[in-house]
Amino acid sequence: MKKVLFVDDDQGIINGLKRIMRSLRNEWDMHFVLDGQSALALLEKDRFDVIVSDMRMPGINGAELLSRVREKYPHMVRIILSGYSDQDLLLKAVRPAHQFLSKPCDAETLKKTVLRITEIQNILNSTELKEIVSNIDSLPSLPSLYQEITQALQKEDVAVKEIGEIIQKDIGMSAQILKLVNSSFFGFFKNISNPVQATSLLGIDTVKTLVLSIGIFSSLKYDQELLLSYDTLWNHSTLTATFAKHIAGLISKDQLFIEDAFIAGFLHDIGILILASKLPDRYEKILNKVSEDKRNIWEVEKELLGTNHAEIGAYLLGLWRFSNQVVEAVIRHHNPEIFGDEPNSLVTVLHLADSFAHHLDPAVQNLSISKLDAQYLKNINIYEEAQGWFSECKRLIEKAPPGNM
Ligand SMILES: [Fe+2]
Ligand SMILES: [Fe+2]
Repeated sequence: MKKVLFVDDDQGIINGLKRIMRSLRNEWDMHFVLDGQSALALLEKDRFDVIVSDMRMPGINGAELLSRVREKYPHMVRIILSGYSDQDLLLKAVRPAHQFLSKPCDAETLKKTVLRITEIQNILNSTELKEIVSNIDSLPSLPSLYQEITQALQKEDVAVKEIGEIIQKDIGMSAQILKLVNSSFFGFFKNISNPVQATSLLGIDTVKTLVLSIGIFSSLKYDQELLLSYDTLWNHSTLTATFAKHIAGLISKDQLFIEDAFIAGFLHDIGILILASKLPDRYEKILNKVSEDKRNIWEVEKELLGTNHAEIGAYLLGLWRFSNQVVEAVIRHHNPEIFGDEPNSLVTVLHLADSFAHHLDPAVQNLSISKLDAQYLKNINIYEEAQGWFSECKRLIEKAPPGNM
């Protein structure tokens, strides 16, 4: 049974939460406390899975509480439940919190959020990797892009579009900006997959505070040169995003689907970024084994880590409230057949785009030996069509090779 801890200094709100969550009392073990100190005391006694905390509380506030929880209990999922009037204070919780819920929060949203979190936790069964991923409060960016954005933000009259376009070129920055926009924290309730649009919704002042004072972005440290360079990973992500957007545009006119395809393509290997930056020594061994044994990277990861980069990436995107479609496409990008699928779905588009990108870019060919799942494509009747899409993607790459896209 999952254990969930609710913290709020207002007894009326605690009573409301107890009422709302009553119907789930047989599924979750829920505890309610009135301040941060009591929350920490309880956490010392027992292992909890999720914490939902108010922001403004006497003594330890929500941001501080979640920071301490992150440090001491990194496996836990951390949610802030707060009013919009607390915006200035709330910016401090942007790093330690995985998600935000706004007060007053209706019963359905609260239940759905905690329920989805507990489902997402089942993606990873390795406690060690759960801790590593839940502990992430900032994903590293390419140093050149990190420098570009901090310099641009220091200019007096920088346009928000210019900032959005830099963010869109970086895997870590894009994921973080979308995490913020898609939480209900800033009051946008629709699903947004476009980093440029997300940046303009947040506005230049908020982005400046988040980047320059709160430090939501950080630069990659090249302590160790891995067999797979970060530039190669960025090029592969950009290429996959370009292909995914192109294929999605051929099969659908739905703008949201096309934008989801782009972002799923851009972030599909975010698990590699996490592993390479958090466990460089172990990842180096994995990369060596992949090249010596000529095997698929995700199979060697599974053998040596008990999980693979697709599951790790999907877990982080799930914690950060990316849509179910994007999370599912990322989990299944190497093995789309597992659950069977509709031909037009994001899973198929991402599998095709990633396979084409591995096939057409010599820099990443050795990571993926098995490439396209032909049987899956035949089963969903798009095998012939996919050949045509491959030729189109090949033409795209001839026009602009990776690194120049
Ligand atoms: Fe992958
Ligand atoms: Fe890939």
